[in-house]
Amino acid sequence: MDDIIDFSSDLVIFGALGDLARRKLFPALYQLERSGLLPGKSRILALARRQGTTAEVRTQLAKDLRQAIPADELSDESLAALLARVEYHRLDFKEASDFAAVAQWRGGSDNALIVYLATPPDLYGVIARNLRTAGCCNQQTRVVVEKPIGHDLESSRGINDQLADVFNEDQLFRIDHYLGKETVQNLIALRFANNLFSSQWDQNHISHVEITVAESVGIEGRWGYFDQAGQVRDMIQNHLLQLLCLIAMDPPADLSADSIRDEKVKVLKALRPITPDILETHLVRGQYSAGTSSGRAVPGYLEEEGANRCSTTETFVALKVEIENWRWVGVPFYIRTGKRLPEKLSQIVIHFKPAPHYIFDPDQKHLAHNKLIIRLQPDEGMTLQILTKDQGLDKGMRLRQGPLELTFSEAFANDRIPDAYERLLWEVMKGNQYLFVRRDEVECAWRWVDGIIANWKGRGAPLKRYAAGTWGPVASIALITRDGRSWYEDTGY
Ligand code: BG6
Repeated sequence: MDDIIDFSSDLVIFGALGDLARRKLFPALYQLERSGLLPGKSRILALARRQGTTAEVRTQLAKDLRQAIPADELSDESLAALLARVEYHRLDFKEASDFAAVAQWRGGSDNALIVYLATPPDLYGVIARNLRTAGCCNQQTRVVVEKPIGHDLESSRGINDQLADVFNEDQLFRIDHYLGKETVQNLIALRFANNLFSSQWDQNHISHVEITVAESVGIEGRWGYFDQAGQVRDMIQNHLLQLLCLIAMDPPADLSADSIRDEKVKVLKALRPITPDILETHLVRGQYSAGTSSGRAVPGYLEEEGANRCSTTETFVALKVEIENWRWVGVPFYIRTGKRLPEKLSQIVIHFKPAPHYIFDPDQKHLAHNKLIIRLQPDEGMTLQILTKDQGLDKGMRLRQGPLELTFSEAFANDRIPDAYERLLWEVMKGNQYLFVRRDEVECAWRWVDGIIANWKGRGAPLKRYAAGTWGPVASIALITRDGRSWYEDTGY
């Protein structure tokens, strides 16, 4: 347990009445409070542009939290304890003189100062400068920022430069909330604590890898933002590439933030650029049209509220990614992500190569390889598909695939799986950066993604339609069957 050290902090949330803070941050803080992880001295300063008093904001937060927290996790006592820590101030983020309120609130506090920028990224720079001018920050201040860090490499550099003007890299905590998910973290344990897997984790033993991050929801009132971004910027540049890095990276020397991030950067640098000559075989862009979701009719992307009917923004993307290094040469990573797919599912499937010499029934040769299925959400856990002999006198040596199953909710029945933001906030309070993205990671990811976007713009990579409630355009099936393989859910093997 880490609570021997005092992690008391003054948490200042810019954009405290926004969607992110209300949906994610305050529920996470509530859970930390309930778990006894918020030290007694910790305080929260909520800042937003809206007029309001501390009492009004506490009432609003209480209402939000009562809705967001499952009934069996709701404790009046913890709720009251959390709200008692919260003070609200109205602040114009661009007005330097307003920041005196932050300095005043800090007073002589010796708590670590954590600044959470739950605002659009174009405000990061000005807030950072105003904090400095108001004398609020020192070398120990930690700053948490959300994606998107820019729209491309150039804009991300601009944002990073503005932050670097005020803070050192070791003060910056760039969130990719996928890194806070319990099962994503577990990838590190799975790979580096089990020699069974680490000894098999390369091109000698693995034939290919699938990464799927599917969502059943559509755009959920975010059309304006999403249409500027698209699925490649919104999901691939960050979450999918982070997953890919955790699967593909070499073993870090230790668990320190830089050891892990150094290894991830090496993977990003080894990604084969998706150049015009391979665009057609390596990339599929899709956009959903009307269809069904959970049994009800839903509109297409172009019919969503606020939509520009001519948009060519992708809501689905599938990529064949190749990593040009010794470990992964010849092992494609098929990755796909989309909105309005049949279900919410994040899953990684590692396909192992078959045994070198096959001696069983030739008809069953397609079965003869192990698979590791890692379910990130929902139903967190993993399944190792192994081959055994089918039982019965009449079965001879016929093979059967069977699962070695680990479902976390069953195996660790009493342990609640914390939400990503709980873990991330907790790690910031401890000052641990290993679950946060370093500047060079963000920039390497943008460099690769920018290349893809520039090439598809140049070639006009066609946008394929798919009906809402399906697994994406037919072309995404061709992307993998062309190599004699199929997506896991199509065959189950
Ligand atoms: C966000 C994207 O970063 O991740 C959203 O902007 C997406 O478009 C969300 O819906 C998915 O997160 P999760 O945790 O629900 O898989």
